[in-house]
Amino acid sequence: MNSLGRIFRISIWGESHGYGVGALIDGCPAGLELSAEELQRDLDRRRSGAPGTTPRREPDRPRILSGLFNGRTTGAPILLAITNQDVDSKDYEAKRWTPRPGHADFVAEKKYGGHHDYRGSGHFSGRLTAGLVMAGAVARKLIRPVMVSARLDEVGGFPQIEEAVQDAVDRGDSIGGIVRCHAINLPAGLGEPFFDSVESLISHAVFSIPAIKGVEFGSGFRLARMKGSEANDIIVGADGTTATNHAGGVNGGITNGNELVFRAVVKPTSSIPQEQQTVDLRTGERTVLRVEGRHDACIALRMPVVVEAVTAVVLADLMRIAGVIPPVLTG
Ligand SMILES: Cc1cc2nc3c(=O)[nH]c(=O)nc-3n(C[C@H](O)[C@H](O)[C@H](O)COP(=O)(O)O)c2cc1C
Repeated sequence: MNSLGRIFRISIWGESHGYGVGALIDGCPAGLELSAEELQRDLDRRRSGAPGTTPRREPDRPRILSGLFNGRTTGAPILLAITNQDVDSKDYEAKRWTPRPGHADFVAEKKYGGHHDYRGSGHFSGRLTAGLVMAGAVARKLIRPVMVSARLDEVGGFPQIEEAVQDAVDRGDSIGGIVRCHAINLPAGLGEPFFDSVESLISHAVFSIPAIKGVEFGSGFRLARMKGSEANDIIVGADGTTATNHAGGVNGGITNGNELVFRAVVKPTSSIPQEQQTVDLRTGERTVLRVEGRHDACIALRMPVVVEAVTAVVLADLMRIAGVIPPVLTG
């Protein structure tokens, strides 16, 4: 349903225009030093403000409501929360019955029979990723010395990020992008051969992020055009070090001790300031929609820290399962 992980397990909660958003973490070991300021650092990387991001300004001040005592985790569930401050719902009331193409309005109406909170996209909003980022900040501390980092490779097909975003904004349009993520210092042996393969678990988490439409590991789709002699990563060390990393650090579903590398596709934002065709759900008639409200022209700009967060969460769970992270931390 709405949780991820076996031992280090997270749930996220909230709505874009409701009380707030957040995450609940179960299975975090006792004894981890933690403070709200540490969550803030990652939240600040997700916040809007740069050109091409939404004009909505949320301070995103995190609160740790449970599971923390004397500055350390207790082993009890950790409830992380942020209240919504900059809410303006008027544009959504008016457009209730004309679903935005590409967005979740139509499926939400069908699945929840009209009971969903449609203001600001409700539970489907990218704002929910603030909960992921907070949980990821906790996971990140837990998995040290494993380090996860992500960056934007390109937006709209161009490596010149700012120019491409500005061009989309000037045209009253939106663009997508590709996020590249790396994890280093991983032990060999995490993951399982089939359903809980590292690729399966990471993809499961990354596809949970709204607007992600593709994931590839290592050389990914380019492997289809390579020969085996090019694609095989030659092993050059008894620790499993390879000369190349076309596999992205995973063989047989299991980490091989090399860098974990994957890329994720972020689609162009569906809410664009242009007239688009849709249907009025009350009459069944085709109609024209002009999306109002405050939106990101390029969601990809805010995505790297979110991808890092879910990756850290999956790795924390795998390391808990493998016993690399004990249930109580000492020192
Ligand atoms: C950080 C972030 C910000 C987002 N901002 C917007 C936005 O301003 N407007 C919009 O239409 N979609 C936005 N989205 C994407 C929608 O939430 C997403 O497209 C929608 O829920 C449908 O899901 P799907 O694209 O995965 O099918 C954002 C996503 C993220 C992760």
